[in-house]
Formats: sequence, C-alpha cells, structure tokens
Amino acid sequence: MTTQHITITVNGEVHEADVEPRLLLVHLLRDNLGLTGTHVGCDTSNCGACTVHVDGQSAKSCTMLAVQADGREIRTIEGIADGATLHPLQQAFWDQHGLQCGFCTPGMIMQATWLLGENPDPSEEEIREGISGNLCRCTGYVNIVKAIQQAAGTLREGESAPAVAAGTVDGQEVSAEPAAAG
Ligand code: FES
Ligand code: FES
Repeated sequence: MTTQHITITVNGEVHEADVEPRLLLVHLLRDNLGLTGTHVGCDTSNCGACTVHVDGQSAKSCTMLAVQADGREIRTIEGIADGATLHPLQQAFWDQHGLQCGFCTPGMIMQATWLLGENPDPSEEEIREGISGNLCRCTGYVNIVKAIQQAAGTLREGESAPAVAAGTVDGQEVSAEPAAAG
C-alpha cells in the first residue's frame, strides 16, 4: 500500500508520519498518536464527538483525511488545559454538571471553544445553534448550555482584567497599562 509522508503539529508538538491516503485524521490522532480524547461516535459526520481545531477552525476529524492535515496545526482536547489548570470550558462543564457519560464532552468542548472564540458573548440561541452539530445522548442540553454561558463569562472577565491593577504598591503609583517591552 502506498503511503504519504506528512508533518503535522498537534497541541504544539510536531509529528511526522507515513500514512495511507485513506487514513482519517481521527484515526491518526487516536491510533498513531494515542490522543484518545477525540472520540468516534458515528463516522458519518453527524455527532461531533470527533471535533478538533484545524488551523483554529472547528473540524470533524472523521470527515478529514490525515493527508489533508499535512502542514497544519491541530488542537485536541488534550491541548486546551493550562498544565494542571483546566480550561474555563472544562471547569464549567464540571461545575454545571454538563456531562453524564462524557462521550460527547471532548467534541462539545472543542466546538464551544471555537464558538466562544468567534462570539465571546453568545445568546442562548446562538449557543444552541453553535453546538447543533454535536449530539449528546445523555444530558439534554440545558446544563451544557449553562456551562458554555459560565465559561463565556469567565473568559470575558479574563480578557477585561488589566495585567497590573492600577493603584499604589508600597507608596508607589502603578499603572494599569502593561509595562513596555525592552
Ligand atoms: S465521529 Fe465524527 S461526527 Fe461523529
Ligand atoms: S454526556 Fe453522554 S453523550 Fe453527552
């Protein structure tokens, strides 16, 4: 069987592989790279369990060939936490009980991460539309929507918080502006 050499960056790490042209991206991630947080729920592009980011865009990795990911940046659920600190969406799904079996959760969170990047303050309707390509067989969507709303608030607060609070420290005035580089 002919193979093709590809180079992809996954969660900041560069990987090279010789793959069959028919190999799906989701199988490259799961079987070759061991990133099993990306799930396969249908293989027919319906459920969204396989959602990852490709060059910052949400994509269903069961509908993309590994060779199509050559030269691209992929982010998976394994790559969104900050060390031991959960991503605000991961924390919000925990806080709001936005999951039961958890099968849909990685794809749901990757889709919601992309959604909040596009629209930091979505209405409930916009959230429901934004995750309409992701199916949950367990929870209904009420707590999932609440989790995305919580994370949206957390992320907006993070964006609006100044890097350094204005005021005085040890009698010295400090500014809310970030210090100039150099
Ligand atoms: S496994 Fe990709 S959409 Fe269901
Ligand atoms: S939590 Fe079970 S499929 Fe969504």
